[in-house]
Amino acid sequence: MAEPFPTFPDGFLWGVASAAYQVEGAVDEDGRGRSVWDTFCAEPGRVLDGATGAVAADHYHRYREDVALLRDLGVGAYRFSIAWPRVVPAGSGAVNPAGLDFYDRLVDELCAAGIAPAATLFHWDTPQALEDAGGWLSRGTAQRFGEYAAVVGERLGDRVRMWMPLNEPVVVTMFGYALGHHAPGRALGFQALPAAHHQLLGHGLAVQALRAAGCTGIGIASNHGPVWPASGSEDDESAAETYSALVNWLFADPVLRGEYPAPELTALIPGPVAADLATIAQPLDWFGVNYYRPTRVGAAGGGGERDVEGAMLPPGLPFEPRRITEYPLTDFGWPIVPEGLAETVRMFRERYGDALPPLYITESGCSFHDPDPVDGRVPDQARIDYHDAHLRALHRAITEGADVRGYFAWAATDNFEWAAGYRERFGLVHVDYETQRRTPKDSYHWYRSIIQR
Ligand code: NOJ
Repeated sequence: MAEPFPTFPDGFLWGVASAAYQVEGAVDEDGRGRSVWDTFCAEPGRVLDGATGAVAADHYHRYREDVALLRDLGVGAYRFSIAWPRVVPAGSGAVNPAGLDFYDRLVDELCAAGIAPAATLFHWDTPQALEDAGGWLSRGTAQRFGEYAAVVGERLGDRVRMWMPLNEPVVVTMFGYALGHHAPGRALGFQALPAAHHQLLGHGLAVQALRAAGCTGIGIASNHGPVWPASGSEDDESAAETYSALVNWLFADPVLRGEYPAPELTALIPGPVAADLATIAQPLDWFGVNYYRPTRVGAAGGGGERDVEGAMLPPGLPFEPRRITEYPLTDFGWPIVPEGLAETVRMFRERYGDALPPLYITESGCSFHDPDPVDGRVPDQARIDYHDAHLRALHRAITEGADVRGYFAWAATDNFEWAAGYRERFGLVHVDYETQRRTPKDSYHWYRSIIQR
């Protein structure tokens, strides 16, 4: 028999998460401007099956029904993102009152349901007009982002309890600007580094703007995971270290320490980097980790099968992500390694010590190709097992002394999974995209029972 489910500390926050472009739809309504994802999806061959977020889960129209599902689930918080192009359609200049009104209504609905609103300001939907002017490669985008943060903070700061200016800047940098698998589809290799720096600068400016607007509970949602060397050889270890510097520490060190992990990288970043780092390292109330899986990395040319990410990388790099074969996989092909979540928490504690603010797991989840609902049920034991095991691992980390304050399951409902379209299903609630009918999966009922304990 399995060990009984552990008891989490009092006040531990149970949540679920989503993002605007992945759920809202209504891309042409109420004055919303275009985003880079509208553009990217319209380009043939970019997204599986030519899917787009034009309708997605129609959350823009069905948010009341969705909040009712969250209330019945019993979550303490709901993490959603605000679409920058709804609020500032051209990315700078005129504010669109109808766009702000939508989030105002959503936040009120959440508060009325007793759910703390947790808002991300940028979940990848850069206004197209800003992209046309260089996007995150341009320093001006960071300034515009700070201005947008001020507008949102002033309007919603009295009710939003947790703020995340950025979500996963590493993914925007790597997939969006270095490799071109996400919007805006640029394949610049290391020339993408300014996009990392300007997002981080935008984060710092947004934190300042939110504080000036009286907002509290400010953090970040950053994607992290252990990087395992493919072997004990010096070459593999150093390849893994380089890779971890690029995907983990390049994004956490500036925020938590005010420095870049590898000084040679800063040579590729334009502007007054030292002064910017002081802006980037604004004290945070908490730090959010999105965890999905570890990566195994070996030295280039060392043999062994490359994993999906490894296959995307151009030749000539000193490292190579390799397949992790000894763990089961989700239907998306990602290894299921619950202990990797505890390991991630440990590596943060080790690296930052007392400088580490309280942690939240701002995303954790899995895609399985669930069956269609039958008699109002979607059996998804694999998803239950996934969250169960990750929560147990997280609890072990807490028992060791880690200050982890909450867990947000990705995702509330099924949604548009970026370049993978609608095939991948991460939700605790099934969405039938033909009818937009919602059906809570078995994992939803399981999560509710965990929350109620
Ligand atoms: C992290 C991203 O923040 C989210 O948008 C995405 O859907 C999940 N990972 C799953 O890939």
